[in-house]
Amino acid sequence: MSAALSTSSITPVQTGLRHFLDIKDLDAATLRQILDVASSMKRMQQNRRFPLHPRQPLAGRQLGLILSKPSTRTRVSFEVGMRQLGGDAVVLSPQDMQIGRGETLADTARVLSRFVDAIVLRTGNTTNLHELARWSTSPVINGLTPSSHPVQILADIMTFEEHRGPVRGRTFAWTGDGNNVLVSLIEGAVRFGFRLRAATPLQMQPPQDVLDWAKREGGDVEWMEDPRAAVNNADCIVTDTWVSMSDSHEEAASRMTRLEPYRVDTKLMALAAPDALFMHCLPAHIGEEVTQDVFEGPHSVVFDEAENRLHAQKGILAWTMGGSNWTSFGKE
Ligand code: CP
Ligand code: NVA
Repeated sequence: MSAALSTSSITPVQTGLRHFLDIKDLDAATLRQILDVASSMKRMQQNRRFPLHPRQPLAGRQLGLILSKPSTRTRVSFEVGMRQLGGDAVVLSPQDMQIGRGETLADTARVLSRFVDAIVLRTGNTTNLHELARWSTSPVINGLTPSSHPVQILADIMTFEEHRGPVRGRTFAWTGDGNNVLVSLIEGAVRFGFRLRAATPLQMQPPQDVLDWAKREGGDVEWMEDPRAAVNNADCIVTDTWVSMSDSHEEAASRMTRLEPYRVDTKLMALAAPDALFMHCLPAHIGEEVTQDVFEGPHSVVFDEAENRLHAQKGILAWTMGGSNWTSFGKE
C-alpha cells in the first residue's frame, strides 16, 4: 500500500494573487492608493442615497468570510461593503464546515476558491492564514490572527487623516498589551511614515522580529516600558483590550494586574498633545484599558474608526478583486 500523499509535498498553484495578509507585504504607494480609493468611495456614499455605487463595480462577485472567532465589526463591514459594491458575501463558521471534522485547509481553499472571488479569514492560528493563501486561487484577506490585524490599522490611519490631516511625520503612542493590533500599527507606522512609541510591560513587548523589521525598513518605532514617556506630546493615543481572543483565560487575571499602569485615563491623556486623538479598535472594556471619561470624551474617535472599517475595507476589496480598474471605484 502506498503512503498517504501529504499536501506538503504538492506544489500549490502560484498565481500572483493580490492577497491582503499583512501591511508589510504591500508597498507604501499601493497602501496609499487603497486609502485614496476608500476615501473617494466614502465621499461618493455621503453625497447620495441609493444606490450608493451606481456602477456596482463588484457586481456578481462573491466574498467568503470564514470566522473562527467572534466578530461584530469585521463581519458586518465586509458583508455590507461587498453588497454596496454590487457583490455578495457568504459567512462561514468552521463548526459548520467540514474543516471542523478534519478536512484540510488545502482542500478547503481549493474548493472555496472555485465558488468565491476572495476569502476573508479570522483565525486563532496564524499558520492557517498562510496555509489558506498558499492553496487558494482567490485572494485571501486577513480578518485578524493572533499575530496581526491589518484591516483595522488601515481604518485607523484613514480616521486620523480625516481628523488631523496627513499622518506622515506625526507621533502615535500605544499603551497596553503588545498584541496583534500593535504589530499591524508598527507595520503601518513604517509604511505610512509616522513615528510610533509603544509602551507595554516587559513580558508583553511586541515580537522582536517585528521591531527588527521596522528598524531595517528605516521606521521610527520605539518600544519602551513607561506609558507616560510613550504618550508624551503624542498626536494619537491607541490602546486595545488587555486579554485578546487568543490569550489563555488562566492568565487573564495576572495580565490585568500587570497592565494596570497602562490604562488610558484623563491623567495619561493630559500628557499627550492638547488636540491628541484617542483610538481603540473595539470592543472596549471600560475601566480596564480605558476609563469611561476618555472613551466618551472629546479626544475619542472610536466610532469614526469603527465606521471606517467599512470604507477602508471597500478600498481593500477594490484592490483585491477590481483588476486593473480598481482605482476607478471611487469615480462616478
Ligand atoms: N475591531 C474588530 O475587529 O472588531 P470585531 O472583533 O467586532 O470584528
Ligand atoms: N486584540 C484583540 C482585537 C479584537 C478586535 C483580539 O485579538 O481579541
